[in-house]
This record gives sequence, C-alpha cells and structure tokens, in this order.
Amino acid sequence: MEGTNHMRVLGIVGSPRRGGNTEILVDEILAGAAEAGADTEKIILNELNILPCQACDACKDGGECVQEDDMSELLKQMESCRIWVLGTPVYWWGPSAQLKAFIDRWYGANQAIFKGRTIILAISLGSGNKKTAQHIVGMFNDIADYLGMNIVATVLALGAYKLGAVRKHASVLAKARQAGKQAVDGTS
Ligand SMILES: Cc1cc2nc3c(=O)[nH]c(=O)nc-3n(C[C@H](O)[C@H](O)[C@H](O)COP(=O)(O)O)c2cc1C
Repeated sequence: MEGTNHMRVLGIVGSPRRGGNTEILVDEILAGAAEAGADTEKIILNELNILPCQACDACKDGGECVQEDDMSELLKQMESCRIWVLGTPVYWWGPSAQLKAFIDRWYGANQAIFKGRTIILAISLGSGNKKTAQHIVGMFNDIADYLGMNIVATVLALGAYKLGAVRKHASVLAKARQAGKQAVDGTS
C-alpha cells in the first residue's frame, strides 16, 4: 500500500493458519498504519523457508550464517522497515515454532538492525485469560530490552480459538487499528 510519508511497516505473521486470528490482527494493525500514511508489507513466516539455528557460531566467528534459506532476504526487508508488527498465536503457552525459529535466527544477524526499532506485538489465543500469554509477552520484553527495541503496543486477542473468531471482537480490532496508527504517528 502506498502512503504519503513513506514510513515502511512490516507485518510478520507467525501463524501457519491463513486468515487466522494472528493474520487478522496483523492486517488490522497494518490498516491503521496505512491510514496514518505508511507503506505496509506483510510476510507469512510459514510460507518462507526459515531453518532453525544450528548453534555452529559461524556467525560469531566472523562468517555468515550456514543456513541457505530465506532469512537473509527477510533481514534486508526488515532493515528497510522502521516498524515491525510481530504476530504469533499462543501454542502451549509459548510462540509458534515458526516464530521461534525466526527469532532464534536473530542471533546470527547484524545486531544493529534491531536497535531503536519500533515494535507492535499481536498475539492470539484460545484462552480468555491474559496470563496465558505472559511468557510470550515476557520473552518479547526481555528481547526488546536486550536489543534496544521499543515495544509500543501489545494487542491480545483473548478467547479467539476458531479460525477468524477475533472478527467478532470489535474492540480488539479497534485496538489493533489504533495501535498501527499511533505507532506511525509516534515514530519519527
Ligand atoms: C498447537 C496448538 C497449541 C495451542 N496452544 C494453546 C495454548 O497453550 N493456550 C491457548 O490459549 N490457546 C492455544 N491454542 C489455540 C490458539 O492459540 C488459537 O486458536 C489462536 O487464535 C490461533 O491463532 P491463528 O488463528 O492465527 O492460527 C493452540 C493451538 C494450537 C494449534
């Protein structure tokens, strides 16, 4: 989507379920960002080839990551986008495997990419209890502190078990849209 101020916002969907609650949340956040004039892009981790970190430390020994997959292109795309929307469903009180494999690969990336980045979290879960998302929220808070990223909003879709269930939660969708808009308005 073309905007006016050319701030770029990247939505990263960690659910394998297309049209699911995570993607709906990310879409809504991106729509809010577009309303505020940003250009938006979206990727579905499950449709990329992102292999798990092998802990070989080639990246730390001055080399490149040994994995030959879509991660280097994705990192370039991430670098070109000022704001990242990170979306995951809750799977067993944690993030999806797709999201976790992606995050683990940050280990081998140029750490300067992350510093100062604006982040919006989008988390969907079947449970109606926000405590069920506490480990994911805590994990992202600690990662953000460590890498110097700025989490400006966390949008939770509680009680969203079935495909598209979050569409019935108008206040959550409104919160998501608002988060996207405010992130763009508040990021220079
Ligand atoms: C493998 C798997 C594990 C899940 N574990 C949990 C869980 O621990 N707690 C919970 O509240 N919901 C759990 N759920 C439900 C999903 O979080 C919920 O359906 C969510 O909205 C899925 O997002 P999506 O529509 O984007 O795929 C699980 C679903 C799956 C498929």
